[in-house]
Amino acid sequence: MAEVNRRSSPLRKMNVLGLLCVCGLVILPTPVQAKTWVFAVGGNRRPWNFIGDDGVLKGADLDLIQAVCDVANQKCATTVVPTEACVQTVRGRFYPGEGLMAGWFDACTSYVSSIDRVNALQFTDPIRTTTSTFTVLQGNPKNFDPLNLQNAVIVHLNGAFTNEQCTIRIGLGRPKAVLVAAGIAEAKELLLNRTADALFSPRTTFNDLEVLPGRYRCDVSGVGMMVKKDSELPVWWNPAFQKYYMSGRYNDACDQINQKYGVDDGDTCHPIKSSADTRSPPLSLLLSSASLLLFSTQFYNWISST
Ligand SMILES: *[C@@H]1O[C@H](CO)[C@@H](O)[C@H](O)[C@H]1NC(C)=O
Repeated sequence: MAEVNRRSSPLRKMNVLGLLCVCGLVILPTPVQAKTWVFAVGGNRRPWNFIGDDGVLKGADLDLIQAVCDVANQKCATTVVPTEACVQTVRGRFYPGEGLMAGWFDACTSYVSSIDRVNALQFTDPIRTTTSTFTVLQGNPKNFDPLNLQNAVIVHLNGAFTNEQCTIRIGLGRPKAVLVAAGIAEAKELLLNRTADALFSPRTTFNDLEVLPGRYRCDVSGVGMMVKKDSELPVWWNPAFQKYYMSGRYNDACDQINQKYGVDDGDTCHPIKSSADTRSPPLSLLLSSASLLLFSTQFYNWISST
């Protein structure tokens, strides 16, 4: 650089300056816009995010995103992507989806944090809780027993946190075989045609299948926004979510989910207790793993959690 500068004539410097000015005009024709944070949803998780019969994308997740973004004064938008854009199971292991890693969007909405997912990604503070269950055919005709997993064929959904690594972590051991279904319909078929003994998933109710009473813990800290490790999203989302929660508006919205969006089954979204004094727990409570107690574990239909 020093060499070049020594040789530069004033005229050449002016030319360089002129070039910079032209470039400046070309590069900055309009004022810089604030970033729009794009949240991806699957669009098939009523009442959280789903495309109604009218074709409109809606649900409690979308309301939450809007509310928290408003609190944070951030520009946000939602998009719809297939599950595998966010999570996938490849050769029996969890891998992040291409959409999230390649930056097609900023966040995968309401995903469960798990040991294998945090190897690859990070999560915001939890927005609700989840659980893990085994589901069998009505009456459990194959006598599936979670304590005898070594002789059972398990199915879970693609990219699910309810996977073989979790059964090993929680002490149930390695199943005889593990199948990965693309969706809940395929998982049901595998149960119905007796290829699989049980579905391992976050769901607590099915109309036509039996969810066994055991509740297991495959998550680290419930359900949050799943983002890349270099994402700045949690920096503004976490404080804004806390503010929104403390205002009581989170619980108000939660109370209305059932009425507003309906549910596929009898479960509803219950904050821990609807009494006023649970609406303002200490901040530390919200942040700690105890926050899992904020809501009942009866969050239904949590296939989602994918
Ligand atoms: C069972 O259902 C699955 C999923 O539809 C299918 O791929 C498989 O071939 C079926 N197996 C039998 C034995 O019918």
